[in-house]
Amino acid sequence: MATLTTATGSAHSRILGIGAYRPRRVVPNSEVVEAIDSSDEWIQQRSGIKTRGFADDDETVTMMSVAAAKQALDHAGLEPEQIDCVIVATVSHLMQTPAAATLIAHELGTKGAAAFDISAACAGFCHGVSLAADMIRGGSSRNVLVVGVERLSDITSPTDRGTAFIFADGAGAVVVGPSDTPGIGPVVWGSDGEHYDYIRQNHDWRDVIASDSPAMPHLVMEGSAVFRWAAFEMAKVAKEALDRAGITADQLDVFVPHQANNRITDTMARSMKLPDTVRIARDIVDQGNTSAASVPMALERMVADGQARSGDTALLIAFGAGLAYAAQVVTLP
Ligand code: UT7
Repeated sequence: MATLTTATGSAHSRILGIGAYRPRRVVPNSEVVEAIDSSDEWIQQRSGIKTRGFADDDETVTMMSVAAAKQALDHAGLEPEQIDCVIVATVSHLMQTPAAATLIAHELGTKGAAAFDISAACAGFCHGVSLAADMIRGGSSRNVLVVGVERLSDITSPTDRGTAFIFADGAGAVVVGPSDTPGIGPVVWGSDGEHYDYIRQNHDWRDVIASDSPAMPHLVMEGSAVFRWAAFEMAKVAKEALDRAGITADQLDVFVPHQANNRITDTMARSMKLPDTVRIARDIVDQGNTSAASVPMALERMVADGQARSGDTALLIAFGAGLAYAAQVVTLP
């Protein structure tokens, strides 16, 4: 039996750069309330959202991803050809095949980087960061671009009361590369498929195709059930991510949860007993819930605003349809 040579990776990995793209069109609550018999006051009270970004036709999944990726590369001080793998987390790239990632890798100017999409809904970006960290340590890649991107406005019904005011569009990206010291803690991830249908597309494509009057399917959500699961179960996951990284809540500088609902964020922060010194991401107020894009967009905002600084320790956690979740502690570039 022949002995195979195996790849050898870097001892550690870390995030080298962060970028984001926010749609030009900013949509206030007043523009969405009429179709769902709601009010600006109700939306702000229940979710924290004041405005969201809806992409125009030219702000495609590819365009927004490439823009966010360029910013992340600049921040990392790397050229596109130094990226050898592109991972794209999304649920709103509306081509069944091919993946969005190969076109994004091409338009970005990588030299034929490995490229694939992952589907873990709102948890997709944190799954991607975990994959990237393991690939770099395992030796299959050196510099990995992880993108979270959504055009949820394409798959949300403006008349669906439970989702129309929440979901939005945008892209965020990070470059993950080798490091001499640990920069990405162990992932805590999992799923609860018993509640597979809590957030879902309302009709299977096969039913749509077979229908006499086919209509574009849209997202539906059991909002209160997801809320309870997220607020209570995810606090435990977040705490475990801290434990597995070997740090305590008072050693944390920044908390970047999936931007699902400000009240979920508040409940998690209370359950975890986060000290007041921890800066908490609140990107949802302006951007809404951008699913796979929400964590990197929120992170980029905190870096741009000076709320998060190089060397800070940040806890990332994301959760959503599946139900799927992932959390890790990272050191900021
Ligand atoms: O990103 C993936 C993960 N997603 C999440 O984590 C989202 C989790 N869920 C949520 O964020 C919240 O459940 C929502 C913001 C979606 C809804 O807030 P809620 O506090 O759970 O509202 P609810 O569904 O329990 O409804 C409360 C009340 C009801 O009226 P009554 O029965 O108390 O009279 C609803 O009929 O609010 C009413 N309502 C609305 N009122 C105005 C429901 N939707 C609306 C609406 N506008 N859009």
